Amino acid sequence: MLRRLHHDQPASFAFTPANLAWAQGQISKYPEGRQASAIVALLWRAQEQEGWLTRPAIEYVAGMLGLAYIRALEVATFYFMFQLQPVGSVAHIQICGTTSCMICGAEDLIKVCREKIAPKAHMLSADGKFSWEEVECLGACANAPMAQIGKDYYEDLTAASLSRILDEMAEGRVPVAGSQTGRYASEPLAGLTSLTEFESGRTQYNGSVQRAVDVGDGLKRIDGTEVPLITPWLGKPATKAAVTKAAKAPAAKAPEPEKPAATAAPTKPRGLKAPRKTGADDLKIIKGIGPKLEALLHSLGFFHFDQIAGWTGAELAWVDENLEGFKGRAVREDWVGQARALAQGKA
Ligand code: FES
Repeated sequence: MLRRLHHDQPASFAFTPANLAWAQGQISKYPEGRQASAIVALLWRAQEQEGWLTRPAIEYVAGMLGLAYIRALEVATFYFMFQLQPVGSVAHIQICGTTSCMICGAEDLIKVCREKIAPKAHMLSADGKFSWEEVECLGACANAPMAQIGKDYYEDLTAASLSRILDEMAEGRVPVAGSQTGRYASEPLAGLTSLTEFESGRTQYNGSVQRAVDVGDGLKRIDGTEVPLITPWLGKPATKAAVTKAAKAPAAKAPEPEKPAATAAPTKPRGLKAPRKTGADDLKIIKGIGPKLEALLHSLGFFHFDQIAGWTGAELAWVDENLEGFKGRAVREDWVGQARALAQGKA
């Protein structure tokens, strides 16, 4: 199957402020010079925010990572996990069609998708709410046939149960994920034959289903406001207690990143018409600024360390968006922090 970008693309893409903070946290996990390793995580987040992976999103992520656009495009078109065309506004149904599921009735499930959603995979339903595709084994073979819908697995499906699930989702409900025949996990159909003593102390649902029930909405697009949105490597809550506390507070806000972040609408910082009489600072001392970017910064009215040191998060975001082929570098290289040190004579 050819994987190409959709013919109809939106004009732009930007992470929500919380997703931007999360993305910056991901990038910070990698050693200097290896930030490109965050690409799958960032493309995935962009897809979770938008529902599918748009060209502007791929370009945006490439810019954040200082990658040539073609490198990000190679990743996006290689992995089938990335949806390169619009998907249903409510859900994209991924039916496993590999051996176990096929033997146990996957073709009946695909028939339901053809009838209730659209005759062909990747087509939107008439109301735009659903789309579907057949995928390879999703690793839940013992509970075949199954489908991934949103973030959850729906298992032990029949044509009737899948049809009911689609109806409920169309009405705005999120059916309980997991086995649809009452199995707790992947134990024998006739029930446990060993370790039965553990039946009494367990939660109502098995681990992943219980989590899905607790979260409450496995179909919701991720905008970064979900909890936990934790980046322990930035000094955020990492203890089990802190994570549990965060998980129980659905209204809690995402942690702020340590570096200046674009948390408001990008705003152009005030520049100067020319350097002060003392002459322009050598901006190339700042890591990430070469002759080309220094010339660009001059053209934007920035000549001095203290100017850059004074950028707010919104101003930094504006500069980052206007770095032409170097989008994202100002945040990634912490230009504000570097300029602050230089302005104070510490660097
Ligand atoms: S064959 Fe369907 S989940 Fe493995």
